[in-house]
Amino acid sequence: MRKALEDVARFKNRRNQAIQKLSGHAMIVTSHPELIRNDDVHYPFRQDSNLYYLTGFEEPESILMLLPGKSPQEVLFVRRKNPERETWDGFRFGPEGAQAEFKIDQVYPIEEFEQRSVELLNGFQGVYLHLRKDAEQDSQMMSVLEKLKRSQGRTGYGMVSIHDANAFLGEMRLIKDEFELQNLRTACEISAQGHLAAQKQIKPGMTERQVQALLAYEFMSRGAARDGYYPIVASGNAATTLHYNFNDQVCKDGDLLLIDAGAEYNYFTGDITRTFPVNGKMSKPQYEVYSRVLDIQLKLIEMVKPGVPFKNFHDAAADMLTEAMLDLGLLTGRKNDIIAGQVHRKYYPHGVGHFLGMDVHDRGYYFKNNEPRPIEKGMCFTIEPGLYIPANDTSAPAEFRGIGVRIEDNILVTDNGYEVLTKSAPK
Ligand code: GLY
Ligand code: MN
Ligand code: MN
Repeated sequence: MRKALEDVARFKNRRNQAIQKLSGHAMIVTSHPELIRNDDVHYPFRQDSNLYYLTGFEEPESILMLLPGKSPQEVLFVRRKNPERETWDGFRFGPEGAQAEFKIDQVYPIEEFEQRSVELLNGFQGVYLHLRKDAEQDSQMMSVLEKLKRSQGRTGYGMVSIHDANAFLGEMRLIKDEFELQNLRTACEISAQGHLAAQKQIKPGMTERQVQALLAYEFMSRGAARDGYYPIVASGNAATTLHYNFNDQVCKDGDLLLIDAGAEYNYFTGDITRTFPVNGKMSKPQYEVYSRVLDIQLKLIEMVKPGVPFKNFHDAAADMLTEAMLDLGLLTGRKNDIIAGQVHRKYYPHGVGHFLGMDVHDRGYYFKNNEPRPIEKGMCFTIEPGLYIPANDTSAPAEFRGIGVRIEDNILVTDNGYEVLTKSAPK
């Protein structure tokens, strides 16, 4: 029989914390939908971060309900055991196995979800749900809520309000405890080692796909379960396409190579970008752009300490990058007018960073009550300024066309400053 990946007491603790915070509301957390193409071709399954965070359970077709104040307080629905299916797809815990291994109050077969859930939810004024744009799952949730509304209408409990489970759990996951940090540190270190290997081995003529393979080899041989997200390996002008992931060009002598890749370890992920010359030496224009982005990134990291609103990083990045654009002759005019008119977004179209953890873009509020939210000890986020000058941009000085630079590190907020978790990746 398979075992849980981690000590299940940790998950029980998290469920208890969630139950305390739910103040009388119920919560339903569903597994990630399976990706199956042409009916029977399966793709690697990764559990939904929230469901994993609360249970450690890694199977698809599972649903957790938290029911504060009721007995049972926690109910998990899972696939039944099925020897024939297990021959094809591998081991399943089944309801009894899952209850014994994961120590959930009550576990039922997944087929019983719709029928049991209405009764289990009766009496709750509100439900936290994760609607995920998966037609099948969302319509199942809607059907349960419809039935609940009808049944509560008759018992006099009235309407049920719907809340966002993703936002609720995002807030819970935002401040990392020591154990979570250990996993995140490992994910960041493995990610950094992958980048280091790519930097050491790159040479003109190598394909972007070969570089991607180097990263994958390094990540997985160091214990990563998978990529944290599909890696971007973008040489030359491809680096000016933000989400380039064809990764099918040849890395040419004289080009820069931008790699945005991170490894996932125990459900935590790194998110690193490095830009470096394929032949080992930057041209003068490449260096002009690179050195400015690096300088700005270092200044932004220096700003990190508890109490600074996250918005300040966005504003400072826009300010400094716009100055660099003026300096390089990419734009003309007054800095403040350029920023007010969003003109700088032509060469820096994204934000400066995002929370990081079990998901690459971890959830959590950047604003609270419409006010910019100050960062706190234990939060982790990326700082990733960049400048992207497409080859076909005839308004830019010719020497800078086709240069794309982003530098991205993962930063932990400490007692009175920061720690760079990705410092093993040279820049
Ligand atoms: N790799 C995704 C991001 O940087 O946000
Ligand atoms: Mn990234
Ligand atoms: Mn990022």
